[in-house]
Amino acid sequence: GTPADHQAEDAAITNGVAESNHLGYTGSGFVNYGNATGSAVEFSVTAAAAGPANVALRFANGTTANRPMDITVNGRVGASAVAFGGTGNWDTWQTVTIPVSLLAGTNKIKATATTANGGPNLDKITV
Ligand code: GCU
Ligand code: CA
Ligand code: CA
Repeated sequence: GTPADHQAEDAAITNGVAESNHLGYTGSGFVNYGNATGSAVEFSVTAAAAGPANVALRFANGTTANRPMDITVNGRVGASAVAFGGTGNWDTWQTVTIPVSLLAGTNKIKATATTANGGPNLDKITV
């Protein structure tokens, strides 16, 4: 169907905080991932029909270190250690898009940090 936005700050957060102290986010803020392996945000995304879809993750990373995350869909790894590289500063946002496979109905899409640096700041996903 038509892609829709799902705000990170409205999703289920594990070891992270919804904040708004950097510019350029959409919705009401973004998630500041805890700087630890396993920090995560999980979205509930409804699909009318099963099939392929693109997940676009909008993020900022004001460091020069990659902040990789695993993207799981309904508990299965959709993409491992997806790179979220430096965007220049915490006010500058970029989008990484990955292909996934959705089920009809509710899908749980989770982005989990895989290093001790945690994830980037995450604004939203568009699916
Ligand atoms: C800074 C920044 C946060 C960011 C953090 C980090 O504290 O203000 O938004 O999440 O760095 O390195 O993860
Ligand atoms: Ca952080
Ligand atoms: Ca947001």
